Amino acid sequence: MNFTLKIWRQQSANASGKFVNYQIKDVTPEMSFLEMLDALNEDLINRGEPPVAFEHDCREGICGSCGFLINGVAHGGQRGTTVCQLSMRFFKDKDGEALTLEPWRARAFPIVRDLIVNRSAFDRIIQAGGFISAPTGSAPDANAILVPKEAADTGFDAAACIGCGACVAACPNAAAMLFTSAKITHLNSLPQGQPQRDERTLSMVVAMANEGFGSCTNHGECEAVCPKEIPLEFIGKMNRDLIRALWHRHREPLVIPSVVQEPFHEHAGPDAEESLTLGTSEKTSDQSHVNGHALANGGRKENGIDHPQP
Ligand code: SF4
Ligand code: FES
Repeated sequence: MNFTLKIWRQQSANASGKFVNYQIKDVTPEMSFLEMLDALNEDLINRGEPPVAFEHDCREGICGSCGFLINGVAHGGQRGTTVCQLSMRFFKDKDGEALTLEPWRARAFPIVRDLIVNRSAFDRIIQAGGFISAPTGSAPDANAILVPKEAADTGFDAAACIGCGACVAACPNAAAMLFTSAKITHLNSLPQGQPQRDERTLSMVVAMANEGFGSCTNHGECEAVCPKEIPLEFIGKMNRDLIRALWHRHREPLVIPSVVQEPFHEHAGPDAEESLTLGTSEKTSDQSHVNGHALANGGRKENGIDHPQP
């Protein structure tokens, strides 16, 4: 098979970029997409030209290093497949055609070079999640902490996120909500993640906002291109956990690094109530009323704390 590759070339973050056309011949259906780029790069090096920069590591769909747009679609459009897992047989019907390769496009992902973008904004969101206080001193018995099957399955599905950034690249708002919700759901669904659940949720959502990502408006493009098939449902879980965490602020203020917060009880006026009780238009005048309202509407009491219904 022969292809024309239209590849975005950009020397550095501040340099201007442009598409450059390359011809590649004798591509076999057994080659992976990245092997085809390796062949192109060998050719470029032999001609004394700079090779195309792209990220890769495991080449097995595990590490999340690879990723760029192929003909405008993140990871090339094969469901549940990273670009390193793409085989050239998927492009048989495009033999002789042009394939356009460009990096993720998002303000929070500045271009490093060619097809490589800086995704350290994702690292800072994960870092904002902090630690869990489950003891790790020695290897516990396998069943020391009982985990319900459903919670284990949810946690495992969420942990499948490899942080590739395709969800951000595909979203018209460049939102990182699928990624952040996967990272939050991973620990929030497990018993070991409960002690820091509220702090983790608030900190990671604040970090996400601070990094300049957009917000979800239910396009669903992220789920469609996610190579690990992270479901949109996790964004709903994250939003519910965010509301839960904000409700809990009614009883004790949470400290979020880098965010100046005032304790709720120092702002007992109706305006403060409105800004903190996301998802409800009901205004209440004191703390006990809020908790009583939560219980009256199906909330629960746990460790002496009133929880609104999630
Ligand atoms: S949610 Fe999916 S698309 Fe987004 S970073 Fe994780 S694995 Fe990649
Ligand atoms: S190179 Fe590791 S997921 Fe593609």
